Amino acid sequence: MDRPWQGTPIDELNRMPQCAPPLSHLKVVPNHTIAVRTDLLREGEVPVPYPTKFKDAWDDVSVKMPCSDKNLFPVETEERGGVERPQSRWGLINTALQGGFKSCLDVRDAILRYNTAHAKKWDFTALNLLCTECLGSCEVQDLFEVVLPTMVELALNARHLCTTPIPLLKARMNHSLTLSQEQIACLLANAFFCTFPRRNSRKSEYSNYPEINFYRLFEGSSTRKIEKLKTLFCYFREGQRGLVTFTRQMLNNPLFSSSSQTQLTRLHITCEGTIEDDGYGMLQVDFANRFVGGGVTGHGLVQEEIRFIINPELIISRLFTEALEHNECLIITGTEQYSKYSGYAESYKWKESYKDETPRDDWQRRCTEIVAIDALKYRNFLEQFHPDKMNRELNKAYCGFFRNNSNKKHLSAVATGNWGCGAFGGDTRLKALIQLMAAAEAGRDVAYFTFGDAHLMSDVHKMHTLLREKQVTVGKLYNLLNQYSSSFCKNCRKTRPDVSLYSFIYESISSPAAADTVDSADDSGISPSALESH
Ligand code: APR
Repeated sequence: MDRPWQGTPIDELNRMPQCAPPLSHLKVVPNHTIAVRTDLLREGEVPVPYPTKFKDAWDDVSVKMPCSDKNLFPVETEERGGVERPQSRWGLINTALQGGFKSCLDVRDAILRYNTAHAKKWDFTALNLLCTECLGSCEVQDLFEVVLPTMVELALNARHLCTTPIPLLKARMNHSLTLSQEQIACLLANAFFCTFPRRNSRKSEYSNYPEINFYRLFEGSSTRKIEKLKTLFCYFREGQRGLVTFTRQMLNNPLFSSSSQTQLTRLHITCEGTIEDDGYGMLQVDFANRFVGGGVTGHGLVQEEIRFIINPELIISRLFTEALEHNECLIITGTEQYSKYSGYAESYKWKESYKDETPRDDWQRRCTEIVAIDALKYRNFLEQFHPDKMNRELNKAYCGFFRNNSNKKHLSAVATGNWGCGAFGGDTRLKALIQLMAAAEAGRDVAYFTFGDAHLMSDVHKMHTLLREKQVTVGKLYNLLNQYSSSFCKNCRKTRPDVSLYSFIYESISSPAAADTVDSADDSGISPSALESH
């Protein structure tokens, strides 16, 4: 078989921490909330929560914490007329969870004691199956005697661990939030026990946020849930000592036009390996849903959900990240991988715990940078060639890849693949070009993992090689995409045009005359039609 990779050898591409710029001193600034004492940050030591005392912020710019004094629920009292006196729900949660669990029915009963409205609806079949059919007796014992008690202790320690109000990363906010891995474990334990208030109905003020309480993880009997639960329990067994930063980044103005003189950057393309295994130290793309994490607490189990379940610290972004707009992304730096897995979707299986040895940076974060960018979902092949749609995807990818005032020599390569080309039905060859153009404008090389598609690897490699040889700029490529769209897609009555995109590009750049007469396509940025929600 031919070599499984082509283009620039992967070892020539930039990886963190080797390519890292000197990291600025970690300090609180207006657009960066830090939930720990930055002056006490020591390698190998658990970061100290800041402030010392719990600051209760029950408002519309912060996460409403389960341990807030304002987290009340009405209680019938014996007093005359059964007048309702509001009681602290946190007190009830403590009572319910401290009772200890002998079986997963006890877990269900505890969760339902402070979620009474859902007692009839919530189904715990998957959790039950895991404990009664799938785990060995010593694993069940370990779960009930070690893991679950650890999770309860973590969850109930919220007032001491998560003392800073957690800002909601709302749409159009450029803001960073740095939490310790211990604080994240506490928040995730609360999510597991479904304690976050106002997060169980789609009608609350959080309707534009992903689900965070894990109740959907317990329902049904598919092996997907069983394997997800195994992966999560593997995470909760460990304790970590570092920090993780979540950054919501917005692209202020659309970038792409036919006037760009930018040349394409280098490409390593391979049909073996995965983004998470072989793209270490690079900017790793999460093929996201605009509700970050997608179906990770539900049924979904493809690229994003797998990444979120083997690096569960990613899941906590669902607590505070509003759905992404077309010109926004979420960058998560510092998460750790806790599990190895096999398979994909239906065949996903938890394999074993994994010791992540990725080096940490000066802020005690693992040098793992993941960017969540959500592609558009296409109902049919031709839709994605509409200029507005191509603009939207170019700017979405660029928004994920660009870094403000960064010297390009310090920028790691982008580790990506068939973004938007699985569940979202995109065309791999178009999306590969779109990502190459966005990476070029961001000044980053690309490591592209075709996930086993050798034919795609050679097609994209050949195209990239020719574009570089002919010094085709991003602007000219932008023109060619728009010309292909207007010439072959706009009035096409078939599901696919007779002429493929790549053969059109070959034709156009091989006969120079044709290429030069390319009229300058519409230079507009994104137009409203591309912004329809998907
Ligand atoms: N590394 C590299 N490539 C991968 C990996 C991996 N670990 N996993 C999958 N791929 C390739 C496969 O070829 C897959 O078909 O990426 C393709 C796209 O993956 P999808 O997850 O289907 O991504 P997308 O089409 O963007 O759909 C996004 O799916 O996971 C949900 O929440 C997500 O709703 C969103 C939707």
